[in-house]
Amino acid sequence: MKKYIAGILTGIILIWSTLAFAATNETISVIFDYAKLVVNGEMTDTSTMLYDGRIYIQLRGVSEVFDAELEWDNESKTAYLTTADYVEEETAPEATAQDSETYANLYESVQGETNANAAYLAFAEQARNDGFLVVARLFQATADAEAKHAEDEWAILQTLGATQRPVASKPVVGSTEENLQAAFNGETYEYEVMYPGFVATAEAEGMNAGDTNARRIFNLARQAEEIHAGNYLDVFTNLANTDYIDSKYGVIYRCPVCGEVVIERPGRCPICNADGANFIEYSDPLSAN
Ligand SMILES: [Fe+2]
Ligand SMILES: [Fe+2]
Repeated sequence: MKKYIAGILTGIILIWSTLAFAATNETISVIFDYAKLVVNGEMTDTSTMLYDGRIYIQLRGVSEVFDAELEWDNESKTAYLTTADYVEEETAPEATAQDSETYANLYESVQGETNANAAYLAFAEQARNDGFLVVARLFQATADAEAKHAEDEWAILQTLGATQRPVASKPVVGSTEENLQAAFNGETYEYEVMYPGFVATAEAEGMNAGDTNARRIFNLARQAEEIHAGNYLDVFTNLANTDYIDSKYGVIYRCPVCGEVVIERPGRCPICNADGANFIEYSDPLSAN
């Protein structure tokens, strides 16, 4: 916002032209050089005049006294006086959604979900190699859920102007037992720490409506991750009990909306209310479905 010393001179200064009543026949009487203008003790030779009880001082003379640049904008009928030491104030850039903490959290979650997807696909491959075909399918179904989370979060980021999508880090693959432990730890961190914080921040920052409803997406993912963690812990704990695992996880279902992975097709998803008929069934241990 510009500030001009013209503002402080309002009331004593007019430009001569404002007194040019060219379109009227009225005759007015003025007294030229009625008053003197003294600046910092120095007498100036600025012209003045008296009209109707008011003293008018020529603006150009004033600009010279203050060594100021004078500009006249005829359209807005505004005189601008700018002194050499005037520094235009920097206007602070408006805060945007990209400055929000939620924007950074969306990036972190897309990165995390993308990494989880890549890790679970690698863990599925390892489980197949280790002979745990049902466990491989659980990893596959959960990998697909993480891919959906990443998609949803990336869609919001794009709405906010993001263009650089995070790419997956190379997963660290161990034995199937180690992979189940690592997967459980990751899911637990997400549902106990990461997503609850992201949900609260999105709520506080007002990103809880419309296309940028990060709060909703974070909250759905948080609940799905808790289900994923429970599955992994159960399988990890009972890895030696093949009969138990094969019968319990022989056929599993994934919600196409929130990504929960369950052992029975529900009427409606208890997390996101999606129609259970749309849940994706995983029953072939050697393929994605
Ligand atoms: Fe998960
Ligand atoms: Fe769901």
